[in-house]
Amino acid sequence: MEVENKYFTLKQYVDGFPSESDFELRSGPLLLAPQEGSKKVIVKNLFVSVDPYQINRMKKRSPSHKSANFAQRIDLGKRIDAMGVGRVVAACGYAEEELLGWEDYTVAGPGSMLTKIPTSQFPLSYHVSVLGSSGLTAYAGFYQICKPRRGETVFVSAACGSVGHLVGQFAKLSGCYVVGCAGSKKKVDLLKGELGFDDAFNYKEERDINSALKRCFPSGIDIYFDNVGGEMLEAAVANMNAFGRVAVCGAISEYTSSERRAAPDMLDVIYKRITVQGFLAYDHIAVHDEFISVTSDYLRHGRMQSIEDISHGLESIPSAFIALFRGDNVGKKLVQL
Ligand SMILES: NC(=O)c1ccc[n+]([C@@H]2O[C@H](COP(=O)([O-])OP(=O)(O)OC[C@H]3O[C@@H](n4cnc5c(N)ncnc54)[C@H](OP(=O)(O)O)[C@@H]3O)[C@@H](O)[C@H]2O)c1
Repeated sequence: MEVENKYFTLKQYVDGFPSESDFELRSGPLLLAPQEGSKKVIVKNLFVSVDPYQINRMKKRSPSHKSANFAQRIDLGKRIDAMGVGRVVAACGYAEEELLGWEDYTVAGPGSMLTKIPTSQFPLSYHVSVLGSSGLTAYAGFYQICKPRRGETVFVSAACGSVGHLVGQFAKLSGCYVVGCAGSKKKVDLLKGELGFDDAFNYKEERDINSALKRCFPSGIDIYFDNVGGEMLEAAVANMNAFGRVAVCGAISEYTSSERRAAPDMLDVIYKRITVQGFLAYDHIAVHDEFISVTSDYLRHGRMQSIEDISHGLESIPSAFIALFRGDNVGKKLVQL
C-alpha cells in the first residue's frame, strides 16, 4: 500500500522566539512494504515527544550541535526528527538508534535509535514521558548529580513541566523538603495539591526571586535542580547552603535570547563549596534498567504520577512546540498522531 507521508521541515533557522513560519509541512509518497534486501523498518508514529532542547538544534549555531547525535543541528529542508513511540508496519531487518520525527511515518535504517518497548501494563505514552527520556533525565539528574540525603532541602524550577514534576516527586520519595516554582497559579496549586510538593510559588508574580527563595528556604537550599538558568540560577546559588549541589539540566529562559545568560556569584560557589554540574540524560544509560524498575514500581503502587499534556494531529506539532516557551504545557507535552 502506498500512503502520502506528511512531515515537517525547518524552513529557516530559529532566531529568538520560534514561530509557525519557521516550519513547513511537506508530503511525499511512501510505500508501506518491506523493500527486498533493505535493512529498513517503517514505523507509524503514534506519539511524538515535544521537547524544548529541539530549539537549540533549530538554530544556526548552538553549543548543542557538537555534543551528541540527538542534539545535532537540524538542517533546512530536512525532516525534523524527534523522540516518540510508534508501531512497526513494515520491516526487512532490525534497526536501532533512529529517532522518529515530526511526521506520520518514519523510515529507519541501520544505525537508528529504535528500541522495542517491552509488553507493558502502562499506557503507551508513558514510554515517552515518565518511563522515557523525561523520566530518565529526572531520575539520573536527581540521584546521580544531586546525590540527595533524607531531610535535605530541594528547589526545582519549571517544576510543573515534564522533567520538573518528576524530580519533585523523586525528591519527596527520598524524604526531602521540596519547593517548586512555576509560571501560573494553576501549576502552583497542582504542585502543592496533587503532586505533594511542600511549597511552590509563581515566579511571574514575585517582584524579587531572591526574596521568594529566602521566604521558602529560611535555612537555605541544599539541592537546586535547574531547568531554566537565567536569574533563577543566580538567585538559587545566592541561597544555597555550604556543599550544595546544582544539577544544570536546562536553561530554557536563555534558549530564546542570545543575550540572556546566568551569571551566578562565583565567590558564593567557591566559599560555599557548591558543586554546579551540567549533565545529559543520555550519559546515564547505565542506570536505565534501575530507573525503569524503581519508577514502574512507584507508578504501580500509586506513589508517583505522570502528568501528560496531549495535543492531537501532526499539524499541531509546531504550535505545541512554540507553546513550551510560553509555559502553556502542564506536564509532559506530547502530540498524538
Ligand atoms: N540535560 C538533559 O538531558 C535534558 C533532558 C530533557 C530536558 N532538559 C531540559 O530540561 C528543561 C525542562 O524540559 P522539559 O522537557 O521538562 O520541559 P517542560 O518543563 O515540560 O516545558 C518547559 C517549561 O519551561 C518553563 N519556561 C518556559 N520559558 C521559560 C522562561 N523564560 N523562564 C522560566 N521558565 C520558562 C515553562 O513553565 P513555567 O510555567 O514554569 O514557566 C514551560 O512549561 C529544559 O530546559 C530542557 O531543555 C534537559
